[in-house]
Amino acid sequence: MFGRVKPLDAILATAEKKSLHRSLGAFQLTMLGVGAIIGTGIFVLTAEAAQKAGPGMMISFIIAGFVCAVAALCYAEMASMVPVSGSAYTYSYAVMGEMLAWMVGWALVLEYAVAAGAVAVGWSGYFTGLLREFLGLDLGTMWTAGPIDGGLFNVPAFLISLFVTWLLIIGTKESAFVNAILVAVKIAALTLFVVLAVPVMNSQNFEPFAPLGFGGISAAAASIFFAYVGFDAVSTAAEETKNPQRNMPIGLIGSLAICTLFYLLVAAGVIGSVGAQPLFDAAGNAIAPGSKELAAACAAQATEVVVCSKEALAWTLREIGWQQVGNLVGLAAGLALPSVILMMMFGQTRIFFVMSRDGLLPEVLSKVHPKYRTPHVVTMITGVFVAFFAALFPVGALADISNSGTLFAFAMVAIAVLVLRKRDPNRARPFRTPAVMLVAPLAAIGCVYLFWSLSAYTKLLFVGWAAVGLLVYFGYSRSRSHVGLGRVEVHEEDADAPQQPVPPLPGGIDIND
Ligand code: ALA
Repeated sequence: MFGRVKPLDAILATAEKKSLHRSLGAFQLTMLGVGAIIGTGIFVLTAEAAQKAGPGMMISFIIAGFVCAVAALCYAEMASMVPVSGSAYTYSYAVMGEMLAWMVGWALVLEYAVAAGAVAVGWSGYFTGLLREFLGLDLGTMWTAGPIDGGLFNVPAFLISLFVTWLLIIGTKESAFVNAILVAVKIAALTLFVVLAVPVMNSQNFEPFAPLGFGGISAAAASIFFAYVGFDAVSTAAEETKNPQRNMPIGLIGSLAICTLFYLLVAAGVIGSVGAQPLFDAAGNAIAPGSKELAAACAAQATEVVVCSKEALAWTLREIGWQQVGNLVGLAAGLALPSVILMMMFGQTRIFFVMSRDGLLPEVLSKVHPKYRTPHVVTMITGVFVAFFAALFPVGALADISNSGTLFAFAMVAIAVLVLRKRDPNRARPFRTPAVMLVAPLAAIGCVYLFWSLSAYTKLLFVGWAAVGLLVYFGYSRSRSHVGLGRVEVHEEDADAPQQPVPPLPGGIDIND
């Protein structure tokens, strides 16, 4: 079962052909991380976390941040050893064999594609708010929320997903310049929020601190984990990093630490200024976020509460008297979230691309566009799926499903690091996980604990998805696998960078950086 292993040396030969210039230092890496991490999680899911844990969500942010930090350190060792496309999938292929690699790749679809959908829904909440505040245009719920969330079809989320798909097809990559601007916008928005909300904190709003006990705190941690996802953008830049042994951990832990600090301050600001107690049904049970019941309970509230808001941070600021600043924060989210969608979808297309090149998915998926040099077929298919996820499902459900896949993949990577340390101790490791015998097991256990804390239906969906994955593997992929057929390949290109520069956009904007 674990026999089909892709030789690490063949994978590394591919990497050598690519051989990128080592240019990134600790600061750029940290900015890369912050850019990829801050998104829908803090801007939108704070309201979900409040519904699950009340003020106790502050502990949830700490737990999720800690699990991410230890997982990140393991991820970085693999990423620096095997610096090629495909991240956790490729690492698992080299270490734990084809079947587990397939399962990891299959789970990564949840991580990336479903996450892109979640961020699109989050964006839609802010966009709708902006239209209302700036243009007085109320789109109503029918066309701005999916059927489970009290609407029918989330049109803004659908359209932004298709727009990002188009950008990816013409070869747009997150450029360092655009990233720097968006990081500044996001940090400015969160700082503004903290500066205005924290001083008006009322300590009574923290009571009761954990209305749903530790179970609620764990459940919120499992959801809010989404707010930290994206740091793998740092690990996958290992090959472009100067002195990775020093700069990688600074970039990873630095970006996670900055985000954790901001998240805690923002959470404290929300709780302290407007209160963050969950809504309960008539029987005294907390209502599930993203459900029809919650939509109905919210509609019945005499005064609005934060757990009902789809633009929690902007809403909070307006509530405490900063109408225009609230709108500005909304605008920041509206500008910055599409780049998170772009990064997530980009990750997804590259995973599919590599799986297809390995023969596990149909070859047509690794077709590269003759002009744009991007894997356009797989990008289009991914984009259409993402658009429909986004149009039909609530943000919290998508984030939870995405987390289930991410947690599985991270646990696998933590195990793979340990296995490879035992099996191949002398191989060069540009970055070594510190205290690996402690950090890797902690990462694996932390991921299992958070996975376990996800809702029952999320776990069930994950199991269903995994079962479909196994059917596809045994029905299609296993017999077509290039490794299985004895073909060891070294690829000339990794389809990562557009080979030709993208023409400037109207207005002379050059997105080639
Ligand atoms: N961490 C990213 C976000 O919160 C995925 O949007």
